[in-house]
Amino acid sequence: MAQRETWTSRIGFIFAAVGSAVGLGNIWSFPFQTAANGGAAFLVVYLLAVFLIGFPTMMVEFVIGRRGEQNPVAAFGKLGYGNWSFAGGLGVLSTLVTLSFYSVVGGWVLSYIVGSATGAYFGDAGAYFGSVASGPTAIAAHGIFMLVTIGIVASGVTDGIERATKFMIPAILVLLVALGAWATTLDGASAGYSYYLSPDFSVIANNFGSIVPPAMGQAFFTLSLGFSVMIAYSSYLGRDDSLPADGGAIVVVNTMVALLAGFVVFPLLFATGGAEGAGGGAGTAFIAIAGAFGQLPAGGAIGFVFFAVLLFAALSSSISLLEVPVSYVTENYGYSRSTTAVAMGLGIALIGVPATFGTSWLGFYNDVVFKLLLPISVFLLAVFVGWVADTEAVDELGRGSTIGESFTTAWLWWVRVVVPLAVVVTLYLGIDALYTGLTNGAYF
Ligand code: TRP
Repeated sequence: MAQRETWTSRIGFIFAAVGSAVGLGNIWSFPFQTAANGGAAFLVVYLLAVFLIGFPTMMVEFVIGRRGEQNPVAAFGKLGYGNWSFAGGLGVLSTLVTLSFYSVVGGWVLSYIVGSATGAYFGDAGAYFGSVASGPTAIAAHGIFMLVTIGIVASGVTDGIERATKFMIPAILVLLVALGAWATTLDGASAGYSYYLSPDFSVIANNFGSIVPPAMGQAFFTLSLGFSVMIAYSSYLGRDDSLPADGGAIVVVNTMVALLAGFVVFPLLFATGGAEGAGGGAGTAFIAIAGAFGQLPAGGAIGFVFFAVLLFAALSSSISLLEVPVSYVTENYGYSRSTTAVAMGLGIALIGVPATFGTSWLGFYNDVVFKLLLPISVFLLAVFVGWVADTEAVDELGRGSTIGESFTTAWLWWVRVVVPLAVVVTLYLGIDALYTGLTNGAYF
């Protein structure tokens, strides 16, 4: 068997993992979920979900990945619990579904880069969205986005993923800071900041059931948890790295990018109308943003930069979603990386085609991932690490780090009890919402 690749350095791993985490979730979904769910109140719940549930769950995936040193399915066997491989298998399947519609939205971003350059969305932002979000343009853009993703993954872990993310992550950070600075000059800046940052706690209390599931789903999604991506990435990691330190860095940078995106998006929304127009789902976000760029001086140029940032973020995430099934197939069946990347990528692109039929189809893919697959996967991983492979997990978490036994013990109990409980509540509310959507014809 060929020698398994590893990251060239610890920083290479952190860049790749941050690249996976930082994506459409941070720059597109986060500001708009926040806008739709009451602003700062949502932000508070989201931050709690990221640090209290997301970070410990990231450690769950890291201990499986580094201990297993295999693709996410085989890792369970290597740990000595082969009958749990189905949990890894569910993760691999989920990456296929997720990437299939993620790439459709990636295609929208491509269209908006073009629209910024040509000015096509300046006149009527809603009509432009309608023309690129579904139909032939959407299919073509989806295909192009997938081809770029395939190209990077086919080049391998170090030459493809590591090199691409080392370029994209700094670019995203620098450009977002610049956009945030520009946004301070907008008329809507102070109204935007206050909606974004001063929480009204009664909003949380009164809307608990409708705020918690999206905040939890968003926390898992933005950190790339649940679908074994972090298992796969940490399997290429050296034995003497500190998992909590690396994970902490990844969570902090990912959160910074989301917060920064809010500092761009909220002033922009309030400069031209307010948060209301942006709350209605996948498409309204693009319409609201593009509409704002269309009305502002130099909006086309600035919109171009904004959508370029979004494209980098989307690509550095989509490659992680393709890497998981590709590493599984190459390691299990011995096909070459490039053949596998092409075949799987094209297959996934086909699965995504229905999401180009219209935004309600895309919303269905999105909801299945957020409300069903993510919480189920996280639940399985937490139960596995907390109750089945607990001895190995605690040992692995302590390896290479200076954290003491009290930290690892506290983490274990947290993973045993708190994480599964939080996820079960989320799952219950999510299934309820999905069921309601299906029965009242919200999707098809
Ligand atoms: N985290 C990415 C984002 O915020 C999306 C993503 C990439 C993802 N890999 C994942 C989500 C694995 C869940 C699981 O856009």
